Amino acid sequence: MIGDRGEVNEKQQTGELSRREWLTKIGLLLNGLAVTVLAMPIIGYLVSPLIGADKGQYKRWITLGDLSEFPENQTRLAKFENPITSFADGDTDHIPCWVRRMQGENFQVFAVNCAHLGCPVRWFPQSGLFMCPCHGGVYYEDGSRASGPPPRGLFEYPFKVESGKLMIEAGQLPTLSTTAKLMVRSRGCQG
Ligand code: FES
Repeated sequence: MIGDRGEVNEKQQTGELSRREWLTKIGLLLNGLAVTVLAMPIIGYLVSPLIGADKGQYKRWITLGDLSEFPENQTRLAKFENPITSFADGDTDHIPCWVRRMQGENFQVFAVNCAHLGCPVRWFPQSGLFMCPCHGGVYYEDGSRASGPPPRGLFEYPFKVESGKLMIEAGQLPTLSTTAKLMVRSRGCQG
C-alpha cells in the first residue's frame, strides 16, 4: 500500500513538475512574443534608414486642381487624398493644405500644421496672416514666422504645374529638409 502511494505521489510530483515546466515554457514563449511585438516598431525605426525604407517610396505627385481654382494673389484651402491609406482611415485620409498663388505659375503650398506643435493653422485674408489657435503662433502670407512660439515658418510641399493642373508631392509630411529642397528647386527654376 505504502509503496503504491509512494509511487502515486512520485507520479503526481513528476506530473506537476512537467506541468510546471510546460507552463514555464509557455510563459517564456508568450513573454518572448510580447517583447518581439513591442520591439518591432523600434527595430523598424532603427533599420529603416539602412534599408532605404525612409527614402520617399511613398511620395507621389497628386493633383490639387485646375489652375483656375486658385485665383492669383489669393490663398485657398485645398484637400488631397493621402497616397498611403487604408480602408480604416475614413475622412482622415483627406489632407488639407493651404495654396497661395502669387502670379502665373508661382505658388506656395503650405502644410496646415503649425511648425510649433502641429495644430492646424487658419488663413485670415483680412489681416493677411496665418494664425494658430493653440498657442498664438502667427505667420505671414508667405509662410514665414511672424510671432509666437513656432521656431520657423510653415512647411511647404514641393509643387509643379502640368497640363494646367497644380500638383504637389504628397505621401510624406513636408519637413525642414524637403522645404529646403523646394527652395533650392524654386530658385533653380527662376534662375
Ligand atoms: S501649435 Fe501652433 S503655436 Fe503651438
